[in-house]
Amino acid sequence: MNTIEPKLDYIPNEIVSIDDYESFAKSRVDANAWVYISSASADEITYRANKQAFDKIHLLSRTLEDVKGGNTKLNLFGQEYAHPIFLAPVAYQKLVHGDGEIASAQAANAMESCMMVSGFSSTSLEEVSSHSNSPLWFQLYMQIDMNDNLFLIKKAENLGYKAIVITIDAPIAGIRNKEQKAGFCLPSHIEAVNLRGMKQLTLDLNSTQSSIFDGVMAHSPTWEDIKFIKENTKLPVILKGITHPSYAKKALELGIDGIIVSNHGGRTLDTLVPTIDILPKIVEAVDGKIPVLLDGGIRRGTDIIKALAFGASAVLIGRPIMFALATSGALGVAHILKILRDELEISMALTGCKTLKNITKEILF
Ligand SMILES: Cc1cc2nc3c(=O)[nH]c(=O)nc-3n(C[C@H](O)[C@H](O)[C@H](O)COP(=O)(O)O)c2cc1C
Repeated sequence: MNTIEPKLDYIPNEIVSIDDYESFAKSRVDANAWVYISSASADEITYRANKQAFDKIHLLSRTLEDVKGGNTKLNLFGQEYAHPIFLAPVAYQKLVHGDGEIASAQAANAMESCMMVSGFSSTSLEEVSSHSNSPLWFQLYMQIDMNDNLFLIKKAENLGYKAIVITIDAPIAGIRNKEQKAGFCLPSHIEAVNLRGMKQLTLDLNSTQSSIFDGVMAHSPTWEDIKFIKENTKLPVILKGITHPSYAKKALELGIDGIIVSNHGGRTLDTLVPTIDILPKIVEAVDGKIPVLLDGGIRRGTDIIKALAFGASAVLIGRPIMFALATSGALGVAHILKILRDELEISMALTGCKTLKNITKEILF
């Protein structure tokens, strides 16, 4: 059996990029946790393609612009943010560090980021919110009983969460072959604490009906349910997991406040389109009426500037949170936010963009 290295309480010189955290993380969690945080669905084609698609886009340099006094500020849903690098909802953070979501919240607070707290958070919404003055958004996986959804939303509202993110691309879990082979299972001391006591469905493979169509999917949310949630909260409602332009249009029709272009980091349906490739079509469909955010494969400041140039308002990072947490807890998560923000600012400076508004397709080739 491999030994698990202790967490680091300092940042060694060798860690200078997000990818460095991935290599440091691997030896600091057990094999069960590693397969959960690092795997993607089936052949992992979408997972790889998310990153490769960014690498295929090139930037054009503009270095004689006056960028003095520049900044990375933005306003989303009436709230000021210091920069557009947000923490994606990532489940069960205690799997990789004892402090779990609390460490991420502390890092988001220190680095003025926005943290989206997963519906499958291993820490309560109350506890997370007591560790951050920075804006928190609550990510909802729609529950079977609508009263449970309303309960969670009201709780988030009362705790001062700033938005509700409904993840729509995973009504059923993706088939993650690496997890299957490794026999991944959630340790008994880690659970989705906010969903305690709520009715859950499990796949019944012995049923005579289709366990997919007549089982889980028979209870999965529809546009009607999204509409109902929108009508029952005062918070902005954002749909996460959109890759189809027709869904962006439908979201607009329902008065949804924002969209996150996401393929769940390649963890649901393999061969889904890379997010940066479909972003322009979603931006076109939305026509500037609501903000469009993006995640999937963001590992560099140059990835961020490309997403913003194609019309994203902000980006989210997923796996990097877990790699950083596994390596050095809150310190690591704060560090990845700093690395990405520095890289974004340098990318802006070298492409002649003083503010986020100056980042347009003109810098792309
Ligand atoms: C370990 C893990 C757990 C995740 N849990 C959730 C979740 O609870 N809710 C959700 O909406 N997305 C979840 N995601 C997807 C992320 O929010 C995000 O869409 C994705 O990780 C972005 O891609 P990236 O990992 O390449 O940055 C999870 C991703 C990972 C890697």
